[in-house]
Amino acid sequence: MCGIVGYLGKANAPSVLISGLKRLEYRGYDSAGLAILDGDKVLVSKASGKVANLSERASINWPPELFKRVGTGIAHTRWATHGPPTEVNAHPHLDKTGEIALVHNGIIENYRALRARLEGKGHHFVSETDTEVLSHLIGDCDKGDLFQAVCDALHQVEGTFGIAVISSREPGKIITARRGSPIVIGVGDGEAIIASDASAIVAHTQRVIYLDDDDIATVTADSVDIRDLNNVPVTREIAELGLDASVAEKGGYEHFMMKEIHEQPDALANAIRGRLDLQLGSSVLAGMSASQRELAELSRVVMVGCGTSLHAAMVGEYAFEDLADIHAEVQQAAEFRYRNPIIGNRDFVVAISQSGETADTLAAVKEAQQKGAFVMSLVNVVGSTIARETGRGVYLHAGPEISVASTKAFTCQVSVLLMMALKLGRGRRYSREEGLKLAREIDSIPELVNRVIAKNDLIAEIAENYVKDEHAFFIGRGPMYPVALEGALKLKEISYIHAEGYHAAELKHGPIALLQPGTPVIAVACEGPAKDKTLGNVEECRARGARILGIITEGDTNAEEVMDDFISIPKAHPLVATIPAVVALQIFSYHVARLRGCEIDQPRNLAKSVTVE
Ligand code: M6R
Repeated sequence: MCGIVGYLGKANAPSVLISGLKRLEYRGYDSAGLAILDGDKVLVSKASGKVANLSERASINWPPELFKRVGTGIAHTRWATHGPPTEVNAHPHLDKTGEIALVHNGIIENYRALRARLEGKGHHFVSETDTEVLSHLIGDCDKGDLFQAVCDALHQVEGTFGIAVISSREPGKIITARRGSPIVIGVGDGEAIIASDASAIVAHTQRVIYLDDDDIATVTADSVDIRDLNNVPVTREIAELGLDASVAEKGGYEHFMMKEIHEQPDALANAIRGRLDLQLGSSVLAGMSASQRELAELSRVVMVGCGTSLHAAMVGEYAFEDLADIHAEVQQAAEFRYRNPIIGNRDFVVAISQSGETADTLAAVKEAQQKGAFVMSLVNVVGSTIARETGRGVYLHAGPEISVASTKAFTCQVSVLLMMALKLGRGRRYSREEGLKLAREIDSIPELVNRVIAKNDLIAEIAENYVKDEHAFFIGRGPMYPVALEGALKLKEISYIHAEGYHAAELKHGPIALLQPGTPVIAVACEGPAKDKTLGNVEECRARGARILGIITEGDTNAEEVMDDFISIPKAHPLVATIPAVVALQIFSYHVARLRGCEIDQPRNLAKSVTVE
């Protein structure tokens, strides 16, 4: 949510900043801006809308020489929280003197009180943002030492921040700090690049430093000095990113979403590789770092997450109960800490998040830790806040996910949850033979997904029949129920079709009133104990004239007969089949959205990682 880039070094700052912003645009894209130091002045350019607008604006407003000179600057792409996405609300914001510029991710919760106090001292604000208040506060604290001014200001702030600050009075440095919103510093050869995530850094260097909460760093082209907010030096290791710059490019696909759908066989292979024990019929997950005995003593698995990660957790719920015979439940992360959950030291809390930055999931982690639970994370982004906060977990190894609509993260999350359930199950009631059978099925997931991706053209043709609809219902039972929810989420977020997911049995308790002749119902009715019941619910919809698209198992002629259209997926264990089934729905949603001319990778009002509650 919002992206920050800062640059110091031997290249042209505006050019580096704009290309960095383009790589971060998936995080927020309603307005953008940049500030650079030019002699004793801070020059600012902003635009509402995409980074391309900013690029155009800067090249009109600023002289061409500026795009040739070496320099220092900061930039931001915004997902609006305080005030609409106008030019005046876009970052960077200046202090009262116009000599200090700030970009900020996060929320300053006490900004109203701070603003009133500063107004009392003669400060005048032009925007509606909390960020402008912080820039004025830093200016107000500046008595000739920018680092100290930022420390003093941050001591007065409640809320979350990832910030980068420059001042024309102290050129050649950027002050950056974080609390609850990530900052990564890329350490190059005679240059440094600061960003809210590594995708803006990877084109410059592989060497990075992740700031911890309440770290504040003074960065120059050749040095990084990190302290805490009381000015005490702290040591942070330099890590290797291990990412290829091409991950942030579309690689010939029209959209990141389609690229990431196609990356799934490899992503899944990476998530699974080395984690299955095909001798013992179990899994080896170093991140579940507890003894088999400790694991056997756990009384309950509680999974927390939001959005797509929540749906993955719901598949996990079935897996833990079916395979491990352990009580499992899913809680929406935003609710978790407010409902005062009954959690103790025999509870195993799994926080699921692609980004590892989702504010609600992070808050749930802290609450579970507070209550003494055994907490671990299932995260994709290495070094992210949730991964670091839990200190124990399993990475997805799915590779960077740029498209706002999550695809490969979901399938990798489910695969890892299946392996976790298998491991727990083998310590409980699951036999070696049963374990071996499932382990082999998990091992075959990349191939199953490949076979669904091979149906891309067929699915694109089917999608043509649903392009003009404005409403759609997704139904499923058992582990296919969360698949139906995920299918509905995918379709609504990228195509803007009003799509609702329901348990297939629930439809007749109310939503069926909305069915009219021709209303599309997408029924996930793959082989499994719940299939026949789902087909019964399909008949109820057909009787009301609904048009049915089935996600069914290959060769299931009974199911084919009751569908207007169908996409078949390879036969698999019902839990494993959730993965190819969801891939079919991802591809379907993608083509519907493409045919409707939607901005697939950057749907309106959304952002990739949601770092506000
Ligand atoms: O990074 P996270 O997995 O914690 O993100 C959770 C949700 O914000 C995310 O899954 C969101 O629902 C996606 N846009 C779904 O495609």
